[in-house]
Amino acid sequence: MAYNLLKGKKGIIFGALNEMSIAWKTAERAYEEGAEFVLTNTPMALRMGDTHILAEKCNSLVVPADATSIPDLENLFTKTLEHFGGKIDFILHSIGMSPNVRKKIPYDGINYEYYLKTMDISALSFHKVIQTASKFDALNEWGSIVALSYIAAQRTLFEYNDMADAKAALESIARSFGYIYGRRSHIRINTISQSPTMTTAGSGVKGISGLMDFTERMAPLGNATAEECADYCITLFSDLTKKVTMQNLYNDGGFSSMGMSYRAMQMYNRSLDCKECNGKQMDEEEENNL
Ligand SMILES: NC(=O)c1ccc[n+]([C@@H]2O[C@H](COP(=O)([O-])OP(=O)(O)OC[C@H]3O[C@@H](n4cnc5c(N)ncnc54)[C@H](O)[C@@H]3O)[C@@H](O)[C@H]2O)c1
Repeated sequence: MAYNLLKGKKGIIFGALNEMSIAWKTAERAYEEGAEFVLTNTPMALRMGDTHILAEKCNSLVVPADATSIPDLENLFTKTLEHFGGKIDFILHSIGMSPNVRKKIPYDGINYEYYLKTMDISALSFHKVIQTASKFDALNEWGSIVALSYIAAQRTLFEYNDMADAKAALESIARSFGYIYGRRSHIRINTISQSPTMTTAGSGVKGISGLMDFTERMAPLGNATAEECADYCITLFSDLTKKVTMQNLYNDGGFSSMGMSYRAMQMYNRSLDCKECNGKQMDEEEENNL
């Protein structure tokens, strides 16, 4: 259902690669709510992905930009402000990539060149986007900037690797810049910490299916879908959340407040029973790897 929450609002949406992308779902919802926006992604993603299909559907301009490149971002903001003939109201940063995760290099054997790339693409790019927006004075007063994060910023989750460090930096950037931009121009900056979600980036995380099953069992409301994340983004772009800033907001069905749930415990007990009934004794290395 649409509520016209973004009627008259303009924005930039980073990261809609294909119809599974959280940014894609957010663009569709923003369009339904009356927003106009520019879509952007890397030149390579625009060639390989389906962004042009979304752009046609939402009547959007597409401007290529690698979010780690200041010249690309300057070009993006110049074209966007020209296109709308004025300032914008919201930005979605929905960008993440780790070469270490992609190449399955473990955290304790990390490649530092890749690590810097992870940090640049998944965290620093957020700073670069905000700093460029600020330099161009691109946002109207009470504008809203949102980036997507994950609970691995606070808690250690098996196999999330250097993306955990990037998400911790991302959330810190939201607070640090949120103070400066809020005080100066009443711009709010928040991160949404989303449940594991089956997207192109999500499926790169080793063991994502098992993780999603676990978080589904742990969270009293179950995992939040990409569509539900899009809904949350819309509220943060709308005028209904004007005084929410510098926050990391969990959209995870309650997972982040849980220690152990009945459903997860049942599953754990079942695997213990199974171990006993099989009469199989784990050796020390197997136990250590659990
Ligand atoms: N899928 C999940 O389980 C999950 C959970 C929590 C948070 N997130 C976060 O949500 C965001 C969106 O990811 P998604 O799950 O929709 O996957 P996705 O793969 O659809 O989106 C990731 C996007 O980042 C873009 N990107 C990569 N490098 C870039 C660069 N240098 N410049 C500009 N764009 C670049 C990709 O082209 C892609 O469009 C990411 O920040 C991700 O970490 C995802």
